[in-house]
Amino acid sequence: MTITATAANQLRPIGPVDLAAERAAVGPVLEEALLRVLRSGQYILGPEVEAFEKAFAAHCGVPNPGVAVANGTDALVVALRAACVAPGDHVVTTPFTFFASAGAIAWMGATPRLADVELDTGLLDLEKAEAACDSKTTAILPVHLYGQMVDIKGFRALCDKRGISLVEDCAQSHGASRDGVNCGQLGDAAAFSFYPTKNLGACGEGGMVLSRHEKVVQKARRVREHGSPVRYTHAELGTNSRMQGLQGAALNCKLPHLPGWNARRAAIAARYDAALKGSSAVVPLVRRANSVHVYHQYTVRIVDAASREAVLERMRAKQVNAQVHYPSPVHMQEAAKPWGYRPGDFPNAERLAREVVCLPVHPFLSDADVDRVAETLLAAASAP
Ligand SMILES: Cc1ncc(COP(=O)(O)O)c(C=O)c1O
Repeated sequence: MTITATAANQLRPIGPVDLAAERAAVGPVLEEALLRVLRSGQYILGPEVEAFEKAFAAHCGVPNPGVAVANGTDALVVALRAACVAPGDHVVTTPFTFFASAGAIAWMGATPRLADVELDTGLLDLEKAEAACDSKTTAILPVHLYGQMVDIKGFRALCDKRGISLVEDCAQSHGASRDGVNCGQLGDAAAFSFYPTKNLGACGEGGMVLSRHEKVVQKARRVREHGSPVRYTHAELGTNSRMQGLQGAALNCKLPHLPGWNARRAAIAARYDAALKGSSAVVPLVRRANSVHVYHQYTVRIVDAASREAVLERMRAKQVNAQVHYPSPVHMQEAAKPWGYRPGDFPNAERLAREVVCLPVHPFLSDADVDRVAETLLAAASAP
């Protein structure tokens, strides 16, 4: 059956997130909690944030309370500083990520050294990361992209072998695990984002640093408040990046929902897998064995890259809003010029940037929505 233009306009739009549905799922406790903070006047840090620092670390299986900061980018900067990365150091990371992963390294004065990703997962390639290490490398910063963890035990072993730090970018992977290890557990420091569209999102900006090392946590706490262990005593340089009380309260209300929301994302992903199986035009990225993937994104490659924009346009015409994360790799951004890379340096990242499409996968989609997205995609990708 072909859908006429008028009928398409009557279709319910399907997009990457549904924050209204999420708010409704959390229920009145969310508004009550926000009002409680408003009335208490505990606008910055305070008991709600402290409770969340403990609850989120426990959720991730990390023994120390987290350090709640203003956003995920700050979490990366503070995590790098707390893991003893210094200006002038080299930090190896991926060219296929949101720019913040590499940008945070440069912003704190170190130099990003990039290594290509695996074509089938989009994750930083362990062997290529090792090859990118040099005598100035003091840390590796892998990104658990789209909700799937990198080979964390392999990266841990590599960092131990070289005596350098492992800093995990967990902005897209709340609740993920691989080979029995949760994200945030094996790194010397881990950075999370609670941007509203993440698997666990605040009602505004938020971030957190986790570490299994008490010393790293203490340093992160100091860096968060201008290097100040005691008021008006500044032992080292830092910044002001404290989580707001309102965000702590919102996150406390949402955290108990995270496992259920992630399970629904995984069920949606399985439905997409089944619907797309056998297509030669649309190839889903791969989930590794022993990996609990939390599907921040469900990502496919449109193998005939020339047609990707047309595919997106045809889907939009049917009210299905798929997204491209990320259309241009880090090393091809203007801001990355000083790092000295050129187009062609990371062929897998460049190919993925041309081919990927992220389908709606938020937990408030119905099975019928998922089927409609898959059918729309397959029709769009096979149209002449
Ligand atoms: C992989 C990755 N790292 C870091 C960040 C930065 O987080 P924030 O937007 O909270 O600063 C994001 C956010 O989109 C991200 O996706």
